[in-house]
Amino acid sequence: MRTPFIAGNWKMNTTPTEAAGLAREIVSALEGVYNLEVAVAPPFTSLAAVGPVIRGTSIRLAAQDLHWEDHGPFTGGISHSMLEALGCVYVLVGHSERRIYFGETDHLVNRKIKAALRGGLRPILCVGEEEAERKGGRLREVLVRQVDRCLEDVSAGAAGRLAVAYEPVWAIGTGRAATLEDAVEAHQIIRHQLELLFGTQAAAPVRILYGGSVSPGNAAGFASQPEVDGVLVGGASLKVAEFAAIVRAGW
Ligand code: PGA
Repeated sequence: MRTPFIAGNWKMNTTPTEAAGLAREIVSALEGVYNLEVAVAPPFTSLAAVGPVIRGTSIRLAAQDLHWEDHGPFTGGISHSMLEALGCVYVLVGHSERRIYFGETDHLVNRKIKAALRGGLRPILCVGEEEAERKGGRLREVLVRQVDRCLEDVSAGAAGRLAVAYEPVWAIGTGRAATLEDAVEAHQIIRHQLELLFGTQAAAPVRILYGGSVSPGNAAGFASQPEVDGVLVGGASLKVAEFAAIVRAGW
């Protein structure tokens, strides 16, 4: 029912020249892949270099962040319309690295989600618990709070443009991915909360991705779970062979 979605988050890596080269290699490695959707998220400064390389292919351009206002005196800010003008289709919002290193709160994430939706972008909302929260039995509470607060005042009509990435903070960049059981449990909590917010029908098209140390070795397991609609890949998305293997993992 939901088209599988694999997104690569390049984080703070690649100059424009490097990014264009990486994108070219990904385009050729993914030739013949049509049954799912793939997006790459280069840094802001490489978006203009990657856009023309993937134009006309099935790979979509994503940004890693955006500002919550449309324009104005926000030095260093990048607005949704600037991203749209570069051909971005998707934008990551609320990645845990933004929350941890840049102090982003659920409230700010909510404003960014609404800015993306005001424009023509499709936000990928990132949520996920810290290790202490999981160990303290607070998984459900944390996910419900993040989903509720980050999606406050988002209409059911806009839900179809939304994706959610479940990214447990302890799994990001550690090589220690969530088990399938843990991922499925979290995805079920998130889907149930989306259904409460939007209604079952409007929530149905929202894809829920897993993220955190996704690799060629564990991608097929995630692909085998009906609750997992795709993956958000960090480190492995910078390695063409690994990213291609994840995309071809049997979604
Ligand atoms: P990772 O990062 O795949 O390197 O763990 C995932 C992410 O941060 O989205």
